[in-house]
Amino acid sequence: MRKRVTIVGSGNVGATTAHWIASKELADVVLIDIIEGVPQGKGLDLLEAMPIEKRDSYITGTNDYKDTANSDVVVITAGIPRKPGMSRDDLLNTNYGIMKAVVGEVVKYSPGCILIIVSNPLDAMAQAAYKLSKFPRERVVGMAGVLDSARFRAFIADELKVSVENVTAFVLGGHGDTMVPLPRYSTVAGIPITELMDTAAVDRLVQRTRDGGAEIVKYLKTGSAYYAPSAAVTEMVEAILKDKKKILPCAAYLQGEYGINGLYVGVPVKLGAKGIEQIIEIKLTAEEKAGLDKSAAAVKELVGVIGV
Ligand code: NAI
Ligand code: 2OP
Repeated sequence: MRKRVTIVGSGNVGATTAHWIASKELADVVLIDIIEGVPQGKGLDLLEAMPIEKRDSYITGTNDYKDTANSDVVVITAGIPRKPGMSRDDLLNTNYGIMKAVVGEVVKYSPGCILIIVSNPLDAMAQAAYKLSKFPRERVVGMAGVLDSARFRAFIADELKVSVENVTAFVLGGHGDTMVPLPRYSTVAGIPITELMDTAAVDRLVQRTRDGGAEIVKYLKTGSAYYAPSAAVTEMVEAILKDKKKILPCAAYLQGEYGINGLYVGVPVKLGAKGIEQIIEIKLTAEEKAGLDKSAAAVKELVGVIGV
């Protein structure tokens, strides 16, 4: 039987995620949104592209959660994006309200699914979805680190004029201004970037990565990034559906790992058919650990505001 992925929120990130998933023929896709007609129209438009793309993914759009039943993976992108001058944290109360409206419906019709949370502020929304769903932590994962590290990789490849295929990078922590890019664990063909560029260049790329979301918002003015975010979600969906057991930086509910308890923070995880199959603890320098703790404190403050 074909796999089924529901995407809640058929806006920029949701619809583009559907596009990537269908074009890779990973699953059938159900788009759902609160706005009538938008998921139906986008779903049908995408379905009509399938003969050209030679893909048999079946895409539908709906406003009724009944149509999402028995999904293997549910991606939640419902929420408002930020505009210039706003931080991700400014979205907290509005998007928590939306999370309260959607998670219960998702869980009712797909009680065995794996939830991938995308709505911002990411770590707090992942924590809200975890608490609202009552799922085990393995089945609620937040997308941020794959995006942030892809940005870092793109900037490294551009700086050194090398293939993006040669570049790996790691970004830990919350998806906010305090995220922690790790140059020591970021390599070109296995060579740490600290061997390939001077400290000033590394620092510049680290800062550009931290500001990566805001850089796009400044250009777009009416919303935030969606091509790289949706590609990042798709990599996670693929890892789960194909049980790839891929090591990816994702927001996971920590229970003592990295000395952090009861909080969603971005860390390396093994992603497979069961969701988060392992949280990988890497050794951090004192400076890196301090950065991660500062980032976790920022997430803690937000989850405190909404009480999750
Ligand atoms: P968008 O405005 O294009 O789409 C959001 C969609 O959610 C809209 O179609 C809206 O009608 C829908 N929606 C609102 N309330 C809903 C409800 N109760 N039920 C179902 N659908 C509902 O925004 P975009 O660009 O797609 O971003 C979506 C969210 O993802 C934002 O919160 C944004 O900040 C976040 N984001 C997070 C990233 C990450 O790295 N974690 C990356 C990019 C975006
Ligand atoms: C980003 O980093 C909006 O969180 C989103 O682009």
